[in-house]
Amino acid sequence: MTDKKNKNIEVQAGKPIYGGKTLSQYNGKTVMLERALPGEKVMAFIKKKKKGYIEAIASEILEKSPHRTESECKYYPTCGGCKLRDVEYDYQRWIKEEVVKDCITRIGKVKDYEFLPIVKADNSSHYRNKMEFTFSEERYYMSKDEGFDNDKFSLGFHAPKFYSKVIDVEYCYHQPELLNYVYKSLRQILKSSGLKPYNLLKHTGFLRYLVMRITTENKVMINLVTKSKELDIIGSVADQLMENHPEIVSFMNTINSRLSSTAYGEETLLIKGQEVLLDYIGEYKFEISSNSFFQVNPGQTEKLYDKIVEFAELKGEENVLDLYCGVGTIAIYINKQVKSVTGFELVEAAVVNAQRNAELNDITNCKFVSGDLMQLAKDGEIFKEKFDIIITDPPRDGMHPKVVHSIINSEVKKIVYVSCNPSTFARDVQLFEMGGYKLEKVQPVDMFPHTYHVETVGVLIKKQLL
Ligand SMILES: C[S@@+](CC[C@H](N)C(=O)[O-])C[C@H]1O[C@@H](n2cnc3c(N)ncnc32)[C@H](O)[C@@H]1O
Repeated sequence: MTDKKNKNIEVQAGKPIYGGKTLSQYNGKTVMLERALPGEKVMAFIKKKKKGYIEAIASEILEKSPHRTESECKYYPTCGGCKLRDVEYDYQRWIKEEVVKDCITRIGKVKDYEFLPIVKADNSSHYRNKMEFTFSEERYYMSKDEGFDNDKFSLGFHAPKFYSKVIDVEYCYHQPELLNYVYKSLRQILKSSGLKPYNLLKHTGFLRYLVMRITTENKVMINLVTKSKELDIIGSVADQLMENHPEIVSFMNTINSRLSSTAYGEETLLIKGQEVLLDYIGEYKFEISSNSFFQVNPGQTEKLYDKIVEFAELKGEENVLDLYCGVGTIAIYINKQVKSVTGFELVEAAVVNAQRNAELNDITNCKFVSGDLMQLAKDGEIFKEKFDIIITDPPRDGMHPKVVHSIINSEVKKIVYVSCNPSTFARDVQLFEMGGYKLEKVQPVDMFPHTYHVETVGVLIKKQLL
């Protein structure tokens, strides 16, 4: 059934696929359907008609899945930070397992491998150690009940499709309660300060982003991203906030005067307290600066890294290559179980952090090299030394084919592939399989409950060595 403009269709959701979607059929065409659970009958709005398929979003559930629950969050699903907050946690995990399996067979064309059940998260809410909120002069009103009071101050998350508008968020279930408490105080101080939020369309205003971090020891770092440098003003905000919040040990101010909409800027200044936070993964400590990449779910990071160690089957004699090493967390975590680790990473500041982190833990068998792995692979720079095992943890886009081919051409027996995107993981696995490797086993780890994101660890072995 469709309406007159052919924009609304009635469909039944099929199997889950990557991206928080399900597959469906309509008039012989494949529909990629958002916001529906497998088995649900929905009315869906057609977003795009492509050559071979339709993209649609469920607008009304006609027959509800028994796995739907109630979401406790008043901003769900509009804010977009969660896609599965009204879905039973057991069922979320089943969806993620099915998605990983589907990617491996459909994209990777691999059938014969061992699949281990997803590693569960102990906490499905309040797990993130880093949050980023956006200021805007233009508020996105989710419903008429919000009053349309023309409030010129909004702090929260970007509204879907309205890139200049922001949903005014008072509380977020992703962040620990202590961060919610600090967030509430800071919102009050900033709202009553008269400081102007940024206007993305006019490039006016002062307050741009708020980035908050919290460590496993409940120490908090605040980074206020502003359009210009006003040290007295920011200093006074920091004083007011830190007076009542001893947990805040660092107050930073990033200046971003550019048009680019990011929380990074041309300089980051220390306003009050310390410049870095100290956090732990297992027995190891790490210095984290406001812009460092650090795994966001501390409860699951150790489980993920233990899985890497288990899959690598380290004996203590291996020279390990750690590709896309970030601030050296994996290298440092495994240092006692190997002979040496060499890490490669694009961001120079992360390499400096990695070296510093090794020193901080009195580790001498890890070294870190900066550079673009695609270029390093092209120039033959990665395999100047011999390695026994590769651990690779690329960004969402996966590995550049040149990097994959340089590994295939090396004599490395075992690859442990850590991925935050099962579709690019599967794509790369297919290349490795064509190059003489065999995918042995795979295990997803749930690092991001209530979202569709899933971490996957896989181990590949060079075939003739099986
Ligand atoms: C998913 S993170 C992994 C970080 C680290 N392994 C960890 O567990 O914290 C991916 C890393 O790849 C780096 N990266 C992205 N593109 C790269 C490239 N072309 N060459 C080298 N490193 C790159 C990013 O800067 C980031 O630190």
